[in-house]
Amino acid sequence: MLRIAVFVSGGGTNLQSLIDETQKGTINGEIVLVVSNRLKAYGLERARKAGILAECIKDQDVLLKRLEEEKIDLIVLAGYLAIIPDKMIELYRHRIINIHPSLIPSFCGPGFYGLHVHEHAFQRGVKVAGATVHFVSEVVDGGPIILQEAIDVSKAKSPEEMQTLVLENIEHRILPEAVRLFCDGKLKVENERVEII
Ligand code: GRF
Repeated sequence: MLRIAVFVSGGGTNLQSLIDETQKGTINGEIVLVVSNRLKAYGLERARKAGILAECIKDQDVLLKRLEEEKIDLIVLAGYLAIIPDKMIELYRHRIINIHPSLIPSFCGPGFYGLHVHEHAFQRGVKVAGATVHFVSEVVDGGPIILQEAIDVSKAKSPEEMQTLVLENIEHRILPEAVRLFCDGKLKVENERVEII
């Protein structure tokens, strides 16, 4: 059973989908720590309600130490808005998973997070949107892609509606699926490409 840490900064609906799946036993992993850089992040409350250790940590060295103390095997970024230092990326190479609410390489990189992603996509008039789960590398949203899924957003009347379509129909499913595949040892990275074995 792998030991998973989840980092959040906001409402934590992606965290909730992971909590639900791990507690149903559909993933060979256990969320043992939830961390936020924001004291008031509702994701911390979701963790506490599920009986999971929830800590607000702003200092990167303290965070690294806690990950070591908790013997973390996998870090999942679920709406985490602080920068992951290169030292952590190096220590946890191909063991940090992030979910981004667009079909990378569209609408990603510095400044493209949360609703901003959908504002740009809506403004551009995209007919299809989606989400991407990828390993974290030193390039923001540039790590090896694990899973992607698209959805028709041509009827969306606002960026908020687009965000909800992507969040509820795609993100909440492909993030747990990517974690499941990782915990089952089915993700192989070669030349920056992920193969599901
Ligand atoms: C999601 O849209 C996710 O793709 C992005 O941040 C948002 C987090 O939402 N990384 P929540 O906090 O999981 O509800």
